[in-house]
Amino acid sequence: MKKKHTNPVKEQDDDLEQQSSLFRQIYKSQKWWQNIIDAITDYLFVIDTNYKIIRTNKAFANLFGKEPADIIMKPYYELFGLDGPHEWCILPEGKDCCANRSVERTMNDMDYLISCYPIYFDDREAAVYIMKDITETRKLKDQVYHLDKLSSLGTLTSGVAHEINNPLTGIIGYTEMLLMKNEDNTTKKYLQNVYDSAIRCKRIVENMLTFSRQTPAQKSLENINDIIDNTIELHEYWLKSTNIEIVRNYGKTLYVSVDRQQIQQVILNLLINAEQSISETKRSGRIEFKTSFDTKSKITVIEVSDNGTGISHEILPKIFDPFFTTKPVNKGTGLGLSIAHGIIAEQGGTIEARSVLGEGTSFIIRLPHTS
Ligand SMILES: Nc1ncnc2c1ncn2[C@@H]1O[C@H](COP(=O)(O)OP(=O)(O)OP(=O)(O)O)[C@@H](O)[C@H]1O
Ligand SMILES: [Mg+2]
Repeated sequence: MKKKHTNPVKEQDDDLEQQSSLFRQIYKSQKWWQNIIDAITDYLFVIDTNYKIIRTNKAFANLFGKEPADIIMKPYYELFGLDGPHEWCILPEGKDCCANRSVERTMNDMDYLISCYPIYFDDREAAVYIMKDITETRKLKDQVYHLDKLSSLGTLTSGVAHEINNPLTGIIGYTEMLLMKNEDNTTKKYLQNVYDSAIRCKRIVENMLTFSRQTPAQKSLENINDIIDNTIELHEYWLKSTNIEIVRNYGKTLYVSVDRQQIQQVILNLLINAEQSISETKRSGRIEFKTSFDTKSKITVIEVSDNGTGISHEILPKIFDPFFTTKPVNKGTGLGLSIAHGIIAEQGGTIEARSVLGEGTSFIIRLPHTS
């Protein structure tokens, strides 16, 4: 048999060629996988047993204003400005390591669902972390929960309010009768207390009924300036006794399709709040009602401003929440503004508050022109 002759130089060249082709393939494959993990919008990073990042995607690096290459082999927690790992960060511990797990955490005002997948391959341990931004989802979940609570609260309150209304009417009627018949001043004073408290209860019950109101709005074309005037008139007695100046800054006659009673209720709630706020200051009170009509957007704007206490920026986001009040138990139920908000929203409009603590507050209502 003929012996096969080999050329060692050629063999070496072939080997090198094979090796570099293999490297090219590995490099391409790595690039391919990197592209895939970079396409994931959740934040992904892989740590070794020293908490050092051995893999990451673009999203995670970008979260800290960096590129993946900048953070490789750095302890992951340094990116969060920490000296040590988070309590949720568990390390891989060999092939019998712990199972996958997910936790929810808030970091830098954002909510995350953090999932950990320990991996063990070829005697190497690592932990894959995926952080999902759930800030919006959580907010929506909270809103749904809040709405759900409100709707059951609405049903409950309307039932309770109706039940209380009947005996309350009796208490008010009989107290009025006794007040008229009685001559004794001390008894009259006590009866007046009973009467005032019962009237207060009635107001709370009425508020609760309005809050849980399920009847649709009865709309008709109304002049907004007229509605404001009527509401002020209804309240004239209190305004005179508190010496508050009312300023009318009305735009041209405005007709909007609204439920008159409901808008009156909104204006009255804002008026009472303004009055109560002014009464807490020593200055002479001033409440301004400003109306205007934006011909371009066809929106009627009602602005109710006072020079009362103002509202701090911590409290401002909560004032439209049902039952939120800063007033003593016998003064506020915290329903006035949530009722106003509900009514305006039902009319397709918006209501917002602007305030400077110590200077005063403005409520701005925007009503669209609907027919
Ligand atoms: N004009 C205002 N000036 C200062 N604070 C205000 C004003 N309007 C509302 N607030 C604040 O918003 C809170 C909520 O107001 P809202 O009208 O809903 O309830 P309330 O006035 O406390 O009680 P209720 O209206 O049910 O009697 C008030 O307790 C008060 O802290
Ligand atoms: Mg109020």
